[in-house]
Amino acid sequence: MNYFIHTYGCQMNIHDSEKIAGILEGMGYKPCDNAEQADIVVFNTCCIRETAEQKIYGHIGALKKLKKSNPNLIAVVCGCMSQQEGVAEKIRTSYPFVDIVLGTSNLNLLAKAIEDVGKKKRFVNTDFLCYREEDFMQSRTSFPNAWVNINYGCNNFCTYCIVPYVRGRERSRPIDDVLKEVKDLVAQGYKEITLLGQNVNSYGHDIGDVTFSMLLREIGKIDGKFRLRFMTSHPKDLSQDVIDAIASYPNICNNIHLPVQSGSTEILRKMNRRYTREDYIALVDRIRDKIPDVGITTDIMVGFPGETDRDFEDTLDLVRRVKFSSAFCFVYSRRKGTPAYSMEQIPYAVKKERITKLLACQNQVTKEISATMVGKRYEVLVEGANFRYKNTMCGRTESGRLVNFQCDESQTGQFVTVQIERASSATLWGVVTEEK
Ligand code: SAH
Ligand code: SF4
Ligand code: F3S
Repeated sequence: MNYFIHTYGCQMNIHDSEKIAGILEGMGYKPCDNAEQADIVVFNTCCIRETAEQKIYGHIGALKKLKKSNPNLIAVVCGCMSQQEGVAEKIRTSYPFVDIVLGTSNLNLLAKAIEDVGKKKRFVNTDFLCYREEDFMQSRTSFPNAWVNINYGCNNFCTYCIVPYVRGRERSRPIDDVLKEVKDLVAQGYKEITLLGQNVNSYGHDIGDVTFSMLLREIGKIDGKFRLRFMTSHPKDLSQDVIDAIASYPNICNNIHLPVQSGSTEILRKMNRRYTREDYIALVDRIRDKIPDVGITTDIMVGFPGETDRDFEDTLDLVRRVKFSSAFCFVYSRRKGTPAYSMEQIPYAVKKERITKLLACQNQVTKEISATMVGKRYEVLVEGANFRYKNTMCGRTESGRLVNFQCDESQTGQFVTVQIERASSATLWGVVTEEK
């Protein structure tokens, strides 16, 4: 019996798919390369932007044909999209060949759901049940990195964002559970641990005496050569304590993903981000003061309702000023059920023009940073083959920059010193050297 999982969306979903794979493998299923060979197909969905959603509906629709040729195929839809209001019902009526619909917080029901399907019953449940990680196996697929959830859900309600509605309220995992998982992973040979949360900085606030900086320090003390990363940091909650912890422990990477969203205070206010442009710039200054070689990455959105040319210029100016090592740039997408849905929208042509300008601007910044890295040596964790290029391996610097180089595939998971030889904007090319 084989399974195939389509994963859409962010790291949170990538990691949830590892849990789904663990449950299926626990039931005797084996992974396979495509839906055609599978006995069970899972769509682990995302609904952050409309484009993501439309694409997924198309892919689910395509399963109808497969189901005709293999009536025993079990089709599962889970993840953020199925948690949206009305979607479970829509799947029930418009996609009758889908056997199981689950949400984001009840993956623990998957085994029972498959049993029900065996008894010719459809299984639809999107309740927020909040499973315990420890209750099932995980099948990790991203060696030498391992994802570790520290908190689930989000309480921030940025006015554009669907996540708080589909992932529920913020819940932190007990610190002992997180520490045990990290220690076990390091002992198993994982070389990079990435802590996951929609806002890692608010870790612990709901469970009493722990904070994110305490968690960082505890992990920083764990013996063994490994790197610690975390995402995402909400600028309003990134404390000096966290900055100090990053600066104090060599295991904790000098890399912070700090989504700014906009460079205009007025737009940030409308987004309910709860910081100003000046707050953000001051925060970056404080980070650079303590961690001079830090790599700061970000998410930026253009075309939020009411964004004027002036607001957009403020975003471009902030990008040039802060010098992000990279930025994920998005066109604002209207999400039903969020406050921004009913604000006055911006024409698509304007959004398109702005995203093109923003991408060019960030590209220029990345290019400038890349040029300063040429000729220097960096410790790189070998991640594996870069399939975009022939005979090329890749890995990241501590600050999070991807580097291409040549080495043996068996060196995946090892730390090597790479001298950067050339850079083409975002891509760095280097050679492995012996000396540091
Ligand atoms: N919790 C994280 C990120 C969540 S979603 C944070 O607070 O930063 C990842 C990114 O998607 C966001 O940072 C935002 O830039 C983008 N995004 C979220 N909702 C969006 C929407 N409606 N339209 C376009 N981009 C969106
Ligand atoms: Fe969405 Fe804001 Fe929560 Fe991030 S912090 S998940 S952008 S509501
Ligand atoms: Fe992630 Fe998409 Fe859900 S970005 S949290 S999978 S809506």
